Amino acid sequence: MPLLKVTIDNIEVEVEAGTTIMNAARKIGGAVVPPAMCYYSKLEGSGGKCRTCLVKVAQGSAKDPRPMPKLVASCRTMVQDGMVVQNITSPEAMDSRQAITEFLLLNHPLDCPVCDQAGECHLQDLSYVHGLQETRTDEERRTFKPIDIGDKIKLNMNRCILCYRCVMVADQITDKRVHGILGRGDHSEISTHILKAVDNDFSGNMIDVCPVGALTDNTFRFKSRVWFTKPFDAHRECTKCSGKVVLWMKSNEVLRVTGRKDKYGEVEEFICNDCRFDYKELKDWTVEGPRTIERHSVISQNHYETVAGISVIAPK
Ligand code: SF4
Ligand code: FES
Repeated sequence: MPLLKVTIDNIEVEVEAGTTIMNAARKIGGAVVPPAMCYYSKLEGSGGKCRTCLVKVAQGSAKDPRPMPKLVASCRTMVQDGMVVQNITSPEAMDSRQAITEFLLLNHPLDCPVCDQAGECHLQDLSYVHGLQETRTDEERRTFKPIDIGDKIKLNMNRCILCYRCVMVADQITDKRVHGILGRGDHSEISTHILKAVDNDFSGNMIDVCPVGALTDNTFRFKSRVWFTKPFDAHRECTKCSGKVVLWMKSNEVLRVTGRKDKYGEVEEFICNDCRFDYKELKDWTVEGPRTIERHSVISQNHYETVAGISVIAPK
């Protein structure tokens, strides 16, 4: 199959037919990659919910060079040969990102100082770049009490942006889904079916895919700000998953175990609940070495002293 040529923010790239604008931009990398709050490459059918990834298509294709009349969701729109896309070079796309950020924050509380997701929250990053200084609304926000959905996962519905990623994890990774989005419009909410506990083997991955602090790890809650912990790649023999994880350490104490995330904040491999919640002793793991957090994040700051480029702090 011949490759298709697409130009994004004046950079040309060649991709296979069937590639989305988002993935073509990821092939280029850097600032031209639109942010994604709902798309997750490992989850089938994800995307198209949050609209943070809207871009302008200035030329539809070489055959039909007309621009597309509206901004399009880059995670759901396939490239055409000769397509010209504008992301950060389009004032319209930037305006829409600002508007979407404001919309996502309509009900989302700015409680980063007490939220475990702070420091690795995609909405926090988005609001730093595109957020307004002051809110323009004085309507009451939707409020919910935090609840436990199972003994390991805390749901703060106040913070949910209804991206559906956790529902897709439950559908596609676990063997039975007992939660979903109930209600419609601004009554929509994540809920379990008649207060059932989410406790199946891979349900902890819902925490990793949640772009905000709506689903957090009860075993880590309020133990430390993430930027005070040090991430290490580690593995163990596991019969349920690859056993490849990141240990978030304070001194020699394992405070949290998560999947390994790439620069887009997506896990490389989903891990099982045993690895995530039940093995919190350093002796349970073979530590491979410090993990570099590729995503632009406070977590990647000031973590390791290096000698000739080699990280030197590692737990024994
Ligand atoms: S709880 Fe998190 S992952 Fe689930 S829909 Fe809400 S924001 Fe998305
Ligand atoms: S990432 Fe494209 S609509 Fe959410």
